[in-house]
Amino acid sequence: MTLWVKVTCVDGAGQELGTVEVEKGTVLLSALQEFGFAPGPCGGYGSCGGCIVELADGRLVQSCFFCVNEDLVVLRRTRLPGISFRAAG
Ligand code: FES
Repeated sequence: MTLWVKVTCVDGAGQELGTVEVEKGTVLLSALQEFGFAPGPCGGYGSCGGCIVELADGRLVQSCFFCVNEDLVVLRRTRLPGISFRAAG
């Protein structure tokens, strides 16, 4: 039986940008690509830190190494300079 979890993306004003459902255990970076988020310079191999995102609970996670095991809310903005989502197309 496949278990599904939701990843919701929220902008800096708290506006929900959308939600995707993914299989439990999916790498967060893969889910975020639905919102136009691209891996950092290392291409998702865990060495650049360019994919770090902020969760609604304040945690900063390296999305290419973070598995989604529960519903998550990801903030579109991040505290880290130079790292941001592209405009969703
Ligand atoms: S994409 Fe480079 S560390 Fe995740």
